[in-house]
Amino acid sequence: MAQYDLIIIGSGPGGYVCAIRAAQLGMRVGVVEKREKLGGTCLNIGCIPSKALLYASEMFEEAAHGLAPLGVVVAPPKLDLATMMKHKDDTVASNVNGVAFLFKKNKIDWLQGEGRIAAPGQVVVKAADGAEATHAAKSIVIATGSDVARLPGVEIDEQRVVSSTGALTLAAPPKKLIVVGAGVIGLELGSVWRRLGAEVTVVEFLDRILPGMDGEVCKQFQRILEKQGFKFRLASKVAGVTKTAGGVKATIEPAAGGAAEAIDADVILVAIGRRAYTQGLGLEALGVKTERGQIVIDGHFATNVPGVYAIGDAVRGPMLAHKAEDEGVALAEILAGQAGHVNYDVIPGVVYTSPEIASVGKTEEELKAAGVAYAVGKFPFTANGRARAMRHTEGFVKILADAASDRVLGVHIMGFGAGEMIHEAAVLMEFGGSAEDLARTCHAHPTMSEAVKEAAMAVAKRAIHI
Ligand code: FAD
Ligand code: NAI
Repeated sequence: MAQYDLIIIGSGPGGYVCAIRAAQLGMRVGVVEKREKLGGTCLNIGCIPSKALLYASEMFEEAAHGLAPLGVVVAPPKLDLATMMKHKDDTVASNVNGVAFLFKKNKIDWLQGEGRIAAPGQVVVKAADGAEATHAAKSIVIATGSDVARLPGVEIDEQRVVSSTGALTLAAPPKKLIVVGAGVIGLELGSVWRRLGAEVTVVEFLDRILPGMDGEVCKQFQRILEKQGFKFRLASKVAGVTKTAGGVKATIEPAAGGAAEAIDADVILVAIGRRAYTQGLGLEALGVKTERGQIVIDGHFATNVPGVYAIGDAVRGPMLAHKAEDEGVALAEILAGQAGHVNYDVIPGVVYTSPEIASVGKTEEELKAAGVAYAVGKFPFTANGRARAMRHTEGFVKILADAASDRVLGVHIMGFGAGEMIHEAAVLMEFGGSAEDLARTCHAHPTMSEAVKEAAMAVAKRAIHI
């Protein structure tokens, strides 16, 4: 029986990052992964392949519509989907191979197979051929991630009725695509296929898109998406899906009840959220507490069973790769006797559409609900020189600061490159900075980031360019 300091089950961003940090701190680490490749959902079927297709499809659209107004005359672009998919697959391969390299570099063992916790300190790994091996560890980390949430009665075949996984490998752009759920996956993958030619209808249960994100941003964003060709059926639900000769027929009903209506499409994408994945770990027999499928942990990532910890999508909090990574680092440091910590108030979120949406901290709705007095500073990209020079004038920056102390409580950006710009706000908030701190920080000209500075100045009603 091999003896480890730490065995981690799952090699996604939570698991592999925890493993590397623990190895850096001198621990002997084994990682159990049942998939053929390391890297989890994020690298294989999530963040990385979706961003490869988002970038490539954005370039396709840019070549068709964005170049002529700049005086760059090109023939209408032709889609070579096979090459686009190869770009995606190559990107995934280089990332997962990178994790394998880092495992070797840090002397981390990949224990290939499905892991089960037989007892505290004991992990059984079942290989693909059925052979089982038992390994001992002082500590065990569950980093088994999440899986697609299903619509009751709707079977996902990943051909015509697809989850995000099937939507990353469609053989051709569907003429008509129905997306169930106006969340992050629905809008990102809906954008990919709309740019490549699909007519996209999004059916959303709630009366708004991107629930949880700033309402004002999302209202404007919905109008922009509609201009791009998205159709929205808000406050609606899919009551059933049947397969037809060439595609699918979805029955749509108002969420509050009422007359049903059928819509035909070639493909339907179910993107109604994800659920913690803990199947086959033996949690019940071990007595590990779960709540609504998620593993219950304390402030130090410990479950109720001594020596067993959990991080990432399998536990509470946003299902984001960087949240899982930061938890992995914090837990490794705690296990090494250090003071590992994650600041859940400053976790940025990015929707990689065009334009991008990025936010960190509280939304205006959250501040209102909590009764916090706040000041708002806004600045539109139409008034930013660089945005005009690049013809990326859609969107704005919105900063929410405490009315009394001026401390920045939330920043929301819709615009080209928002996902990069958000990090100056994150650093500022991590240091408890004020809107004035941001407003008095010199920003290079001409940059999109000047809009962040101007929004910070607008908190004190002293923006220069509006
Ligand atoms: P996972 O990445 O899910 O990894 C868990 C691993 O555990 C898997 O490889 C699984 O095979 C393995 N495993 C499970 N059970 C066992 C077992 N018993 N034995 C052995 N192995 C096991 N997040 C972002 O921050 N940015 C994005 O742009 C983004 N885009 C996304 C796009 C899509 C289409 C999807 C689906 C998700 C996206 N996410 C994104 C979310 C992100 O992928 C997750 O938050 C992240 O992967 C969670 O990491 P994790 O380590 O907790 O789990
Ligand atoms: P989500 O939670 O973002 O959105 C799901 C949407 O579906 C919600 O708007 C919800 O109201 C709606 N919905 C739920 N049930 C419905 C029903 N029966 N009919 C119609 N609508 C329904 O989940 P999504 O988009 O599936 O993504 C899963 C997770 O993956 C997210 O939590 C997100 O954190 C992560 N992710 C992150 C990305 C990023 O950071 N850029 C990209 C993609 C995924």
